[in-house]
Amino acid sequence: NFTPNAFVEEMVAELKEKVGDDKVVLGLSGGVDSTVAAVLLHKAIGKNLYCIFVNNGLLRKNEFQAVLDQYKGMGLNVKGVDAGDRFLGELAGISDPETKRKTIGRVFIEVFDDESHLIEDVKWLAQGTIYPDVIESVSVKGPSATIKSHHNVGGLPDYMKLKIVEPLRMLFKDEVRRVGATLGIDPELLGRHPFPGPGLSIRILGDITPEKVQILQDVDAVFIEGLKSWGLYDKVWQAGAILLPVNSVGVMGDERTYEKVVALRAVESTDGMTADWVHLPYEFLMKVSNDIINKVKGVNRVVYDISSKPPATIEWE
Ligand code: XMP
Repeated sequence: NFTPNAFVEEMVAELKEKVGDDKVVLGLSGGVDSTVAAVLLHKAIGKNLYCIFVNNGLLRKNEFQAVLDQYKGMGLNVKGVDAGDRFLGELAGISDPETKRKTIGRVFIEVFDDESHLIEDVKWLAQGTIYPDVIESVSVKGPSATIKSHHNVGGLPDYMKLKIVEPLRMLFKDEVRRVGATLGIDPELLGRHPFPGPGLSIRILGDITPEKVQILQDVDAVFIEGLKSWGLYDKVWQAGAILLPVNSVGVMGDERTYEKVVALRAVESTDGMTADWVHLPYEFLMKVSNDIINKVKGVNRVVYDISSKPPATIEWE
């Protein structure tokens, strides 16, 4: 009996009342939750909402510009901050999964703190936290969780002195999507697969280099575009590619090759807590494997991950 229209009406009134003429800063991620939170706040307070969209250099291929353009098209006051080199510089040489996450969380906070200082007299920090985050679910590992876990610690970044507003904190994911639809957000954006905050860094096993990021972006793009053109994207809860830290021998013409192996992963799930691998059609897997090996230089072998969660996780790191 959740009615998105009534929610929007009540929440807009509540936000107007709560925030008044204050300025609010919000970090957009390109995902559903932060986008819906932003559009809702924008409806309530208009130009007093300042959105920041950070490129950590670990997004999907062309995603930063495409999503930034989309946000601007929606009328949001959004600043794109291209910090890719800074993130990749700090990540250089790091192979340990948790250290990757911590490094990304720290640099994100530094970048966000710098940017929020440029907004004069900002009073509030808005977050796209949803109910499953509140009751501790999958996204507790993301940068936003790092922000939250800093709450009770001394030496807070300055923007943490802001008051917090979380308009979606009582909603489940499907309710967020319905609110988004009511607000007129592009169905394609609302239907996007979940994507981890640390981005492609946790899908590049071993250390991260700009070359590896580019290979993985290219592989991922072939896979995701393939899923879309075969009408499979919406049947899958989450999909992506993983760059393995091994080379394997192959053959091209008369030459032996010794190149990278990539794994493809596609899962069905409702909340990410458990997941089954998707039985993608063999014809599709054959086509996408050929396309990847033919189009992406440096990759000569594709494997498909047939592990369920538990005991495997969705991500490899
Ligand atoms: P796992 O790999 O734990 O992933 O089965 C479950 C869901 O959570 C996402 N995930 C993350 N999201 N920061 C995030 O924001 C992270 O560090 C992180 N690690 C995993 C994963 O993509 C899947 O949707």
